[in-house]
Amino acid sequence: MPTPLVIDTDTAQDDCVALLAALLDPAADLRAITMVAGNVGFDQQVRNAFLTLNVAGRLGEVPVHLGCRAPLTRAWVSAEDVHGDGSGGLSMDRTGLEPESEHAVDALVRLAAEHPGELSVVAIGPLTNIAMAVAKDPDFARNVGALYVMGGSNNGRGNITAAAEFNFYVDPEAAKAVFAAGFEVTVVPWDPLTLRQAVFGQERLDRVAALGTPLSDFFTDVCAATLEFDRSVGIDGTTHPDSLTAAVLLHPELVRRSARYHVDVETAGELTRGYSAMSWGVHGLAPNATVIEEIDAEGFFAYLSGVLATPTVPTREIRRSG
Ligand code: BDR
Ligand code: CA
Repeated sequence: MPTPLVIDTDTAQDDCVALLAALLDPAADLRAITMVAGNVGFDQQVRNAFLTLNVAGRLGEVPVHLGCRAPLTRAWVSAEDVHGDGSGGLSMDRTGLEPESEHAVDALVRLAAEHPGELSVVAIGPLTNIAMAVAKDPDFARNVGALYVMGGSNNGRGNITAAAEFNFYVDPEAAKAVFAAGFEVTVVPWDPLTLRQAVFGQERLDRVAALGTPLSDFFTDVCAATLEFDRSVGIDGTTHPDSLTAAVLLHPELVRRSARYHVDVETAGELTRGYSAMSWGVHGLAPNATVIEEIDAEGFFAYLSGVLATPTVPTREIRRSG
């Protein structure tokens, strides 16, 4: 049976690829897309989500719910320097396409409560909506069957600061609350996992481009800005932590090694805001998360290539700027 899931996303670049996987993989039953403040301007993220639904040929089939437009207590921090507008300058006519009137937090609470223990949530942006759902419904963490989080680093480097990965940095209070809430949580960290095993260099990018599908063209466009940024900071390719997070939920056989950790998030530190303290079992702390340590990297690339090879028919024309 396909896995029922919600993707909570700050849609730009690899968030789009994660959505494609959840929209097109027969192993996935995507019940909703919930939007949270993160990578780029909130309304642009919503445009990017609809654009992704269109290129997948699934416009109008999956509800889009708007969530928190700012972190719990802090000002929003953007990653537009990394992602541009997050779509590679693509656009389309959105006439008649509206998000749901139900707030993302209410949708998350409702969908989890409808079938307790069955829904998976893939959280690939700051954890604001998830923390709000915890605050709103004391049963939310129990009702969610599995929570997959992209965030933090496992005793490695950050990206937005030396100490912190972007999703946890933007809303550290939310991330801290989520790890204290009692979810069955699995973490896909930035470093070392993403940096070592989920970077697509030029040869792989060429192989994707050669697929010649609407999805492979879309992939090339949405990843262009990030590729340029990544190269400027010494990463030789595009980074795919969000699509990896969706992939390991849908295909656990891609995971080669994982371990139980106690994960907590720094909210008070001056230099360490959003730092993820991942304790590996020798510090007397009870584990609260499974952290993925190693994947089948070739298998992950083959999986995404398979998704991008799907011959979809976008319903609306996709315009390219410039
Ligand atoms: C994470 O931050 C965002 O820029 C990406 O979408 C990903 O979720 C990586 O640190
Ligand atoms: Ca993201």
